[in-house]
Amino acid sequence: MKLPIYLDYNATTPVDKRVLEKILPYFTEHFGNAASRSHLYGWTAQEAVENARLQVADLIGAEAREIVFTSGATEANNLAIKGLYELYSDFKNHIITVQTEHKAVLDVCKHLEKSGCETTYLQPDSSGLISLEQIEDAIRPETFLISVMYANNEIGTLQPIKEIGALSKKREILFHTDATQAVGKIDINVDDDHIDLLSLSGHKLYAPKGIGALYVRKKSKASQLIAQMDGGKHERGFRSGTLNVTGIVGLGEACEVAKYDLLSENQKISILRDKLEQGILQNITDVQVNGNIENRLPNLANISFGGVDGENLLISFRDIAVSSGSACTSATVEPSYVLKAIGLDDNLAYATIRFSLGKYTTEEEIDFTIQYVKEVVESLR
Ligand SMILES: Cc1ncc(COP(=O)(O)O)c(C=O)c1O
Repeated sequence: MKLPIYLDYNATTPVDKRVLEKILPYFTEHFGNAASRSHLYGWTAQEAVENARLQVADLIGAEAREIVFTSGATEANNLAIKGLYELYSDFKNHIITVQTEHKAVLDVCKHLEKSGCETTYLQPDSSGLISLEQIEDAIRPETFLISVMYANNEIGTLQPIKEIGALSKKREILFHTDATQAVGKIDINVDDDHIDLLSLSGHKLYAPKGIGALYVRKKSKASQLIAQMDGGKHERGFRSGTLNVTGIVGLGEACEVAKYDLLSENQKISILRDKLEQGILQNITDVQVNGNIENRLPNLANISFGGVDGENLLISFRDIAVSSGSACTSATVEPSYVLKAIGLDDNLAYATIRFSLGKYTTEEEIDFTIQYVKEVVESLR
């Protein structure tokens, strides 16, 4: 068993070896620019990109031409929200979102507020869920977008996406979901869920970092969104810039692997997650599990440890690689805003650990982790 044990799959995942193998030739022999129209090098790259577009679309029930490749989910969220605001701002200026969204949604809204956008940040309940009534109550005549994440990156809570999608459709408001943590873990179908725009990221599903995609429904006003990157009109004008062919090939392959593995892998992972959670709950006193237990990512356990100093807790966990709060915000030492939004006080938020498992997690690692966490917490107390 290799130490430290990696239990931070929601921060990032290793590249699947099958994905890596598929990518490698596109660094060397098939190095062409996918926009080169006059020779075989370009055609080969373009063919690989179009194949990947199909693979990504297939995983979420979309059509290939509804997929726009980006550098990741941060860019996809920026493109969706800023691109629609630019489209609508002359006559509509209101966005509905949630306090527990990722910063890649919240900070985009904050940015737009400087130029006249208005945002309603819904407060979730203590399990991280929002209700349809809250959305209904927040809708105004000026609302052009509802943006609600599929699964929360810290506590794993799954929002009622299908119901929110149906409501958005009924009220003729566009619906965007940041599905970065859900794609590859949950079976998603953009039609069933009435999703107009969906963001996803390669490095959360065993593809490389620096690649992602935005799904844009073609038969909706979303498809008129204004590009935020101008230049050579790549990606049908939605996102200029030479395509990251190796990343795109990797994302495509990772999506195909995920589609094939989805149910069996996630069932296995959730059994290990339950074992970890039960092991901690039964062996350590004064612990609490955060998030919505019934509607939660299968790979995640977010656990608070009462009576310990949060900073000491994280630095004491030398043999396990875990996260306190979101990895994306861990440069600032602030209690997690997600945990605060669901009602945890600062001390308990600091003393909270996110365990996120993945397809390479083993039972032996989980057995070790239960015992190890028990020893560390007891010694700190
Ligand atoms: C829910 C969510 N949205 C967006 C992002 C950002 O994704 P990327 O790293 O691809 O920019 C993350 C990464 O942690 C995330 O968890």
